[in-house]
Amino acid sequence: MTKSPRIVRTLADLRAALHPHRLAGERIGFVPTMGALHDGHMSLVQRAQAACGISVVSIFVNPTQFAPGEDLDVYPRTEAADLARLAEVGCDLVYLPSVGEMYPEGSRTDVRVNGLSDLLDGIHRPHFFYGVATVVARLFIHVQPDVAVFGEKDYQQLQVIRRMVRDLGFAIEIVGAPTWRDADGLAQSSRNTYLDREDRRTAGAINQVLHRAACRLAAGRSGEEVLREARATLERAGFERVDYVALVDPDSLEALAPGPLQRGQAARLLVAAWLGQTRLIDNMDGSRRV
Ligand code: PAF
Repeated sequence: MTKSPRIVRTLADLRAALHPHRLAGERIGFVPTMGALHDGHMSLVQRAQAACGISVVSIFVNPTQFAPGEDLDVYPRTEAADLARLAEVGCDLVYLPSVGEMYPEGSRTDVRVNGLSDLLDGIHRPHFFYGVATVVARLFIHVQPDVAVFGEKDYQQLQVIRRMVRDLGFAIEIVGAPTWRDADGLAQSSRNTYLDREDRRTAGAINQVLHRAACRLAAGRSGEEVLREARATLERAGFERVDYVALVDPDSLEALAPGPLQRGQAARLLVAAWLGQTRLIDNMDGSRRV
């Protein structure tokens, strides 16, 4: 059964649309997106719906998280298809702000989550998490949700947002939802549409490499050796450049010592690698449980 969501494009209309629901004491669940929605996004919307009476999705391709020369101009914009998908899952409200609505003329306020934003992806895309934190903070202020859902596929982004929410005292519960994968294990991403057929075939290797690395860590192999093998396997599979393969503390994202993990030690494996012009990221629990 489909139900067209209400569409609002300005902050004033958003506030007016949400006001009666707030007065009625309904909880608001929010999923921020940049559009080009896929099944993974739909799973986030369903998480928000399970937690709250009202579901809000924003679609905004945020210019401040793209560096000059990145794919801002060609990033897929598929508004009609996105709205149809959101109708299928019964989303209540879609917020489609303009750049001017999110960044009013003369805007001078940024949000920087220092440290966490400067590791891993932050080394390769130094502007990225500052743009993400700034737009997500603004969206949180616009929507004022009770719950916001983010995919674990963007694990570092999730940790940056958790820290921002804690540091700034936003009264918002952040929910991390499991990565949605294709049959071969490739994490769903709007940028997967950039992959040509051959690269798409290769792309599944990234998840297999993470699985194998997690098994070897669980078996007590040294982190250094496991990461070296994972990098070499990706390069052999056809990834032209591997930005990083890392084993980190799941909260601080600091690199763990190179030896074997202690029994019961929590860890996260993360990877970023290039196929042609497409940069893929993925991550997996790398904890040693026993
Ligand atoms: O993950 C994304 O799609 C974006 O980084 C987000 C959180 C919507 C901010 O623009």
